[in-house]
Amino acid sequence: MTTLDQTDTTDLTARRFERMRPFGGDAGPTVDLTGLPPGPRWPVWVQSIGLLRFRHRFVPHLWRTYGDVFTVRIVPGGRPLVLFTRPEHAKEIFAGDPEVFHAGKGNAILGPIMGEHSLLLQDSREHKRARALLMPAFNGQALRAYRTLVEEVARDEVARWSPGDEFRSLDRMNALTLEVILRVVFGVTDEARLARLRPCVNRTVNISPAVLLGWGYPWLQRFGPWKRTVANAYRLDELIYAEIRERRLAPDLADRTDVLSRLILAGDDEAAGPHEGSDETARGDRLTDEELRDQLVTLLLAGHETTATALAWTLHELGSNAHQLARARAAAREGDDAYLEAVMKESMRLHPVIPMVVRTLMRPVTIAGWDLPAGATVGPSILVSHARGDNHPDPARFDPTRFVGHNPPVNTWIPFGGGVRRCIGAGFSLMEGVAVLREILTAYDVTALGRDVPKVRNITSVPRRGARIRVT
Ligand code: HEM
Repeated sequence: MTTLDQTDTTDLTARRFERMRPFGGDAGPTVDLTGLPPGPRWPVWVQSIGLLRFRHRFVPHLWRTYGDVFTVRIVPGGRPLVLFTRPEHAKEIFAGDPEVFHAGKGNAILGPIMGEHSLLLQDSREHKRARALLMPAFNGQALRAYRTLVEEVARDEVARWSPGDEFRSLDRMNALTLEVILRVVFGVTDEARLARLRPCVNRTVNISPAVLLGWGYPWLQRFGPWKRTVANAYRLDELIYAEIRERRLAPDLADRTDVLSRLILAGDDEAAGPHEGSDETARGDRLTDEELRDQLVTLLLAGHETTATALAWTLHELGSNAHQLARARAAAREGDDAYLEAVMKESMRLHPVIPMVVRTLMRPVTIAGWDLPAGATVGPSILVSHARGDNHPDPARFDPTRFVGHNPPVNTWIPFGGGVRRCIGAGFSLMEGVAVLREILTAYDVTALGRDVPKVRNITSVPRRGARIRVT
């Protein structure tokens, strides 16, 4: 193993914390609130709690009360968040000029963990460049190469189950998708290294919003959860940087199929081939060690729990409906991946993992006929878009055939957002979901144990009771 220059790594981590500090609790510029779409007049903190903790009832309530476009005022500083629920309005936002519709600002709280180079935190030119470098690792050809490894991880997981087992499917799917990230994205297969990485990665993905919010106050980092989070971040960085440095020297680098190896070669046109937006990435424009670290942690945080949650809801829906289960099991046996993908998509429609996507306006903009000021945050509500009867007839019914042979009208199914910021892992998560469903459903019948309802966990919406199932 290449020697790790630990001082060097420690410096990189310390510098990241230093640079990302100012984000904590920044209220941003004052926004002119006159003439905004209607919304509740409740105190800002009540509206913020409604949105953060009770959004599954709060946002549909606002839609019923105020109509298709409404404003919520949230902390810090009572800034306005204008939510849209119609597909033509989602289109206006997704097609908006990326110089004006910034997405990185809304994710700034994740800065200390993800790092300033994270695709999720960047905007404008920097975002375009990073996206062009990352895209080839997520194209169709790359996805096909990841599939076998994903299937192996899924098979190992299912092999640990026994007939009659009862468990929280969310927990098992979380363990499974984490393993996929470590092996397929980080490209680590050595068991000793996996054992070192797992606990650090687990602590990183389980970081609480309170810890993130405290980042604006560096003195907190001497205490309890903040101190532990910082210590864990140093340890994780040390392991990731060691992996990056060693991978750069790997003799089989060009033949490796994991995401990290592809990202190391990205920008080297001879090795990586053509990529999206290549006008922004000159030949020889490689990702630095820090950029690679930030993108790996971003992929870990963005891709792990989201996919696990979608899978847990899918198993729960199938386990609650004998007819749908039989149809999906037949598809799994016959290798009908298109049907299994339709099952995943319908589950993500009925149970959106992420409730909305947001953009902060850098200039005044008119959307849906409303003149909105610079500094306002706007976004389509995924929750309401997926639940509208005019978008999806009989919206409460679980019906995968909505996605068989055709798709719902454009911008009515938006679990992955849209435009230049559309989820880069959308294809990856559907490929992973289909592979996992196939392994489970060819081996087992699934029965849901009781009903489940969504609960807010950080930004995702997870099944409150973990989508408990019995496998037989
Ligand atoms: C069911 C699974 C997933 C869901 C529901 C989901 C959802 C989303 C959403 C809503 C966005 C924001 C899009 C926008 O602003 O328009 C996003 C962005 C992103 N997602 Fe996913 N995601 C999933 C899986 C993944 C996976 C597996 C990965 C990577 C391995 C990933 C990586 C990312 C990244 C890097 C971004 C930022 C893209 C950008 O800003 O250019 N996601 N995702």
